[in-house]
Amino acid sequence: MKPEWRGWAEEAKKQFPRANSALLPLLHRIQRSEGWLSPETLADVAELLELSPQYVDSVASFYSLYFKQPVGKRVIHVCVGLSCMLAGSDDLMHALEEKLKISQGQTTPDGEYTLLEAECLAACDLAPVAQVNLRYRGPIPPSEADRLLSEEVSS
Ligand code: FES
Repeated sequence: MKPEWRGWAEEAKKQFPRANSALLPLLHRIQRSEGWLSPETLADVAELLELSPQYVDSVASFYSLYFKQPVGKRVIHVCVGLSCMLAGSDDLMHALEEKLKISQGQTTPDGEYTLLEAECLAACDLAPVAQVNLRYRGPIPPSEADRLLSEEVSS
């Protein structure tokens, strides 16, 4: 456990009446610092907030924005919700898989890109939608998959 995590946990706990309400902000802060949430990290967070390890793991597993494995510099989420599916998100995903030579859920060997599915990203009017490091992009027809890969992004 990193020494600063105790302070971050205390800060987060002070903002909420119950410790489990501090879980999401603490996970966010640690992930921003570490890049992902390892099993050991999740166990440490459970200890810091006096929550069960199973609960912490289930929360981290539920939200697609928490990474339980290392990710690349650019994380691309392709929405596979109904509106995006009808607008061609399957083809967009296949185009990205082909260009990156990885499958959905994987990271390129150079650590540059991670390609993930996401459920409805709440921007159905932009379907098919993707996010690059949480920045919305859409509509992105499959023929414009390169646009997602070439733009400058901050992590
Ligand atoms: S279905 Fe893709 S943003 Fe809603």
